[in-house]
Amino acid sequence: MTDEWSHEVTATHGESAPFDTSVAHVARVYNYWLGGKDYFAADRAAGEQAIKAFPDIVLSARANRAFLARTVRFLAGEAGIRQFLDIGTGIPSANNTHEVAQSVAQDSRIVYVDNDPIVLTHARALLTSDPAGATNYIDADLREPEQILARAAQVLDYDRPVAVMLMAILQHLQEEDDPYQVVATLMAAMPSGSYLALSHPAKDIDAEAMAKMADSLNKMMAEKVTFRDRPAVARFFEGLDLVEPGMVQASKWRPATDAEAASPAALWAGVARKP
Ligand SMILES: C[S@@+](CC[C@H](N)C(=O)[O-])C[C@H]1O[C@@H](n2cnc3c(N)ncnc32)[C@H](O)[C@@H]1O
Repeated sequence: MTDEWSHEVTATHGESAPFDTSVAHVARVYNYWLGGKDYFAADRAAGEQAIKAFPDIVLSARANRAFLARTVRFLAGEAGIRQFLDIGTGIPSANNTHEVAQSVAQDSRIVYVDNDPIVLTHARALLTSDPAGATNYIDADLREPEQILARAAQVLDYDRPVAVMLMAILQHLQEEDDPYQVVATLMAAMPSGSYLALSHPAKDIDAEAMAKMADSLNKMMAEKVTFRDRPAVARFFEGLDLVEPGMVQASKWRPATDAEAASPAALWAGVARKP
């Protein structure tokens, strides 16, 4: 995808969503960092500027994806979770949530949520469920959690535990969006035994470079970023029980290999159970 002009794209269920390719969007910038193909010149430029400010962003994005996969494996395996609400899905990549979950438990049910029209156009790749389970995609905004909960109820049963996944998305909620209330609203709808899994770019890991990168992204990207420090990210888990090893740098959360553990990762990450 290299065209510079605005497109009218057709979504999987026939609707169309206009999108502007002249402004960088996070889903596409992130795809650029991950080595995908779904970005335009503006996204590449924003991605490159960010790399100049913080060269480890590429490894950090990969470490975040690896954390996501380990988390889903833990949730579907050890924690016995069969329902996932993955908000801020991103453009499909390696190890999408339903692929990892259903490789552990075929009957896993996954609802994906994102508000980016280009992610919507890729939704078909997320809807390849194992027949024993189910996947669905909702085009919605995290800032409207009630709407997400109402629509996800078509696939998810809130009488049984759900894993709410907020991977590298909460940095796009500013303080005025009340991100703590948004997370509290989502978790309040879930029964005991549910989980919250999240990762969040850190303000206090590689602080100087991360601040430079935030400035650069905020100049070039449609979705603004607010990086948070350890206590501010830990606050999202209030009232929940963090599983071992607690909230740590993303690459240090149950790494599968020494290489994973050693990867730079400027994100705080954790998984917690609702008592
Ligand atoms: C950095 S990507 C993370 C993708 C994936 N969760 C991961 O960790 O690999 C952030 C995603 O969140 C989405 N996003 C940002 N703000 C959002 C909002 N307010 N509501 C829904 N999705 C949002 C973006 O479109 C993008 O796809």
